[in-house]
Amino acid sequence: MNQDDLKRRAASAALQEIERDLTPHAIIGVGTGSTVNFFIDLLADCRERFGAAVSSSNASTKLLKERDIRVMETISVKRAAVYVDGADEVDPSCALIKGGGGALTQEKIVASISDRFICIVDQSKLVERLGDFPLPIEVVPSAQRAVADAMVTLGGEPRIRSGLTDNGNVIIDVHGLAIDDPDEMERNLNNFAGVVTVGIFAVHRPHLVLVAEQDGTIAQRYPN
Ligand code: 5RP
Repeated sequence: MNQDDLKRRAASAALQEIERDLTPHAIIGVGTGSTVNFFIDLLADCRERFGAAVSSSNASTKLLKERDIRVMETISVKRAAVYVDGADEVDPSCALIKGGGGALTQEKIVASISDRFICIVDQSKLVERLGDFPLPIEVVPSAQRAVADAMVTLGGEPRIRSGLTDNGNVIIDVHGLAIDDPDEMERNLNNFAGVVTVGIFAVHRPHLVLVAEQDGTIAQRYPN
């Protein structure tokens, strides 16, 4: 089974998992990335069964609208029933690194207003400790040098990503950070002036991680 097959299977498992959330007024939170793109395709077939989607990026909004799924602005959504999104790394406690696609800020916001967060990954995303994947940090442009320098003092190797986020900010990808305590690291990095969002999702851990395994099964992981 290739990686796209696994991503498709994870997306399909998520659709089954949110079956009970598909009610006429329900708002479904939709993440960003290649795994979620499969989920958006599947969600399109159920578009009559829920009220609207709330999206985590301009890219996902475009895909949702192309599939005639109604999209609400985040600012007008009080609560979403469920949020489905991928991840770049998942540790045994279900803490995540996200932001490979640069949408981490809006992703964290939508996760925070959702009753349930379901993360969908293939087994290649499972790690014992977060940090092999460079940690994305979204910062306001004027703070990029200060934050990059601070990451060096923490033992990381910061690289400024080219381009800007949907919010007009900069992403610093920090290589080589050993993230032994994701909760503590997320809190700590959030305190640097100019940091908008840290790509560690520990405070907003998913309630459930669906893992598409190479043997065709879907494993379920819950935060401990
Ligand atoms: C985007 C994200 C994605 O969820 C993450 O990068 C995983 O993407 P993919 O499903 O393409 O592997 O955090 O900001």
